[in-house]
Amino acid sequence: MIWSLAFQTLVLARAASPQSADCWTAGRTRAYCCYIARRQQECFQDADTCCQASSVNLGQSVFAKLLEQLPSELFGYLQRLVQSRQKALYSPAATALTHELLKRAVVEISRAKNSTKVGELPFLGTAFRATFLYFLSLHGLRRFIPAKYKSSMMRREPLLWSGFTDVYFGAWGRRDFCRCVEAGEFFSRTNTQLAQSGIGRVDFPRTFLNDTLEHHALSAQNCHMFEEGTLHPEATLRVAFSSQCISGDIATLITLLHGCILEQDMNKVVLLHEGIFQLSTFAVDCLDARLWGFTVRDAALHFARLIWVIWTKKQTFAFDAALQRGIAWSRAGRARGETGQSATPGTGAPWNSQCGPHVLSAAVVQDPEGLSSYGSPSTHGPLCTELGRFWLQLKLQTVPPAPPESSRTLAVLPITMSWESNPWHHLHWWLPAIWYFKIQLNLSPKDVDVALVFPRADIDWAISTAEGRTLDVNFRGHTEPAVWSILQHTMPFTTEEAMKHWGPDGIHRTILGWLSEAKAKALVEFYGASYNRLIMGLPSLRFFLQTPGLTCSAIARVRHWIQSLGYFSAGAMHNSDTGSSALPAGLLKLAIIQRPDADGRRILNLDEVLSLVQTNFTELMPTVVHGLAHGTPWVDQFQQFSGADILLAAHGAGLAWLWALRAGAAVVELRSRSSPVWLQCSELWNTDSSEIFGGLARLAGMHHICTRPHDMKGTLGEARLSFVGDMSDADAYNHSADVFVWLPKAAILLRSAILLALGEPLPCVDYHWWT
Ligand SMILES: *[C@@H]1O[C@H](CO)[C@@H](O)[C@H](O)[C@H]1NC(C)=O
Ligand SMILES: *[C@@H]1O[C@H](CO)[C@@H](O)[C@H](O)[C@H]1NC(C)=O
Ligand SMILES: *[C@@H]1O[C@H](CO)[C@@H](O)[C@H](O)[C@H]1NC(C)=O
Ligand SMILES: *[C@@H]1O[C@H](CO)[C@@H](O)[C@H](O)[C@H]1NC(C)=O
Repeated sequence: MIWSLAFQTLVLARAASPQSADCWTAGRTRAYCCYIARRQQECFQDADTCCQASSVNLGQSVFAKLLEQLPSELFGYLQRLVQSRQKALYSPAATALTHELLKRAVVEISRAKNSTKVGELPFLGTAFRATFLYFLSLHGLRRFIPAKYKSSMMRREPLLWSGFTDVYFGAWGRRDFCRCVEAGEFFSRTNTQLAQSGIGRVDFPRTFLNDTLEHHALSAQNCHMFEEGTLHPEATLRVAFSSQCISGDIATLITLLHGCILEQDMNKVVLLHEGIFQLSTFAVDCLDARLWGFTVRDAALHFARLIWVIWTKKQTFAFDAALQRGIAWSRAGRARGETGQSATPGTGAPWNSQCGPHVLSAAVVQDPEGLSSYGSPSTHGPLCTELGRFWLQLKLQTVPPAPPESSRTLAVLPITMSWESNPWHHLHWWLPAIWYFKIQLNLSPKDVDVALVFPRADIDWAISTAEGRTLDVNFRGHTEPAVWSILQHTMPFTTEEAMKHWGPDGIHRTILGWLSEAKAKALVEFYGASYNRLIMGLPSLRFFLQTPGLTCSAIARVRHWIQSLGYFSAGAMHNSDTGSSALPAGLLKLAIIQRPDADGRRILNLDEVLSLVQTNFTELMPTVVHGLAHGTPWVDQFQQFSGADILLAAHGAGLAWLWALRAGAAVVELRSRSSPVWLQCSELWNTDSSEIFGGLARLAGMHHICTRPHDMKGTLGEARLSFVGDMSDADAYNHSADVFVWLPKAAILLRSAILLALGEPLPCVDYHWWT
């Protein structure tokens, strides 16, 4: 059947237009030379000739080639439509055609789903093309389709999107394509770059050719350095075979796409856009539109619009400024930071809405022996952690509710890196656990058992991602094993060393005691036990490259709840948020983290910094916190930071305690001199909100600055990383490099931190208060 032929990529023939060699020297680009008058003088004498719009020739009617594969009645409709320049088509025909294309797309995806084999991605060309044609028709005929039919079709679109997700889960098992853990800092910067480029904003097409920050950002994308072959959709789609951050990959491609629009390179624009559309279908159920500023539907609709715009032109046409503006992304479905809560797949439902807790009433826990990792009714979840989404396989036998006196709840908590003592990881379990079990449900420790489940210890996304570079062309699997997304019922290690944090002297003992009187154990130990209620997972706190499920006020309540327990001894320095202070009036508590020698990232001249504080900042009372990483109980760590007004520390897990500071406190995060330039560290207060600790500070209602404090130059210009486009240097860097703090800079940082800490309290209502 012709319909099922592969989706031929459109290849356009380009007519001769001024070549860079005639006009600007190698390494320069059209985007650099042609849009800004002063650069035109720098690049060439005759700007009129050199910057003439490049000419696009559709060659042997590539669209006819694409469309002739349509069933003939549909092709007839479309042809009449274009020939009549959209006038002749009356609304019932437009509606019927679009509706028919939607139905066909659903059938094609269903066919792909039915041919999916475990471990192997099926052929998807037909499903992609059918989906694309629906959006082409919906976009092109939008003015002829009555609103009620449009909304009725949009209500059916989730069938398309969830169909793709079913195919991917069927082939590769449940998995999270938007983990973004490996190279998380890099993708955090990608996110910032996309936001700064303005792509998707309503006014973006009007401004992106002007001499603006947006223009500079996009012209630095170096579209000309990419060979066409590497931008082919097949090449782009291969990203999906090994990536665990498809949302970030798409963001990168969208930025590059606009770089290519500036270069007026239509071949690359079409190739890239087709790849973006196809790749985005993998991220349907995890793309967090609130964070990234675009949806999967945007990718489909903007691609459809691009093709429609070209198609309705004559055979040869100029790729001029009007066309550039016409195909630039604007009005992306959901503006960045907006709080839309749509649960519709493809439109960017908040990631955290899936995370749980998932509550079941009355069940007996049974051994999951024999379940496969490719999904079954016994696969529950997702359960979210700071490492993304995981699923739990558990057979449950439902039982009638037990009498009230035996009412018990089993809390199943996913625990990452259980063998490590790392406050960054702990934060993601204990804050949601306190908030949900103690504050929301107010459960007594008498009525709860705690079962722990674990991601596998052998997970290494660096390796599975790197394997993508060496894949054979016939590869249809995924480099990440399906079992990596399945939670284990047993401790990953059973050595004494690995278990010690969970024992009666372990660092988690106090908080575990708040949750349950009984010892927390691995889930395997609960097989056969029956419960009135089973609660799987926790609300997600993940704020780094995802929108968190907990709000600023939830975190404030957790902080108060712990403080109100009276756990702390009377002598502790401890300002509560309500202002009762153990310090003499007017003194502010400054906490400084100094890591142990062996751990690296020390403040080299801590003594100098402390004596500066003593001589020049008599209003500060410094405490140096040592040795966090080595088994200090979690609650004691909380105590060391609780109520502090300023926190100064090198980038590291200890900074995770910033949530325990007095509300509205100021956090100074130090980066080493050798930290690479692409690391987002803007030297500005309350700016790096997609960065790890900047994001946490935003969520927790604290002020934050990231700084490279070694000299004054770092303060401005050089270390100011807001400029987009210099991301080629993605090399690994020395995470252990120590930090030197130049005293004049320390003085400025402390002075501004004091002013902020003494200022008005920050609003603490939701996640996005900085913006
Ligand atoms: C795929 O399989 C389902 C269930 O067996 C069936 O209902 C559906 O019609 C099939 N789809 C196609 C396109 O054959
Ligand atoms: C962009 O540049 C054009 C041409 O110079 C000018 O007419 C227009 O007003 C500028 N737009 C903005 C938003 O600056
Ligand atoms: C990284 O930095 C640490 C601390 O300054 C230093 O001891 C170590 O040698 C550095 N490693 C490399 C590979 O440069
Ligand atoms: C500390 O105070 C002294 C005396 O006022 C001043 O000379 C010095 O510059 C200050 N140091 C810094 C780093 O600001």
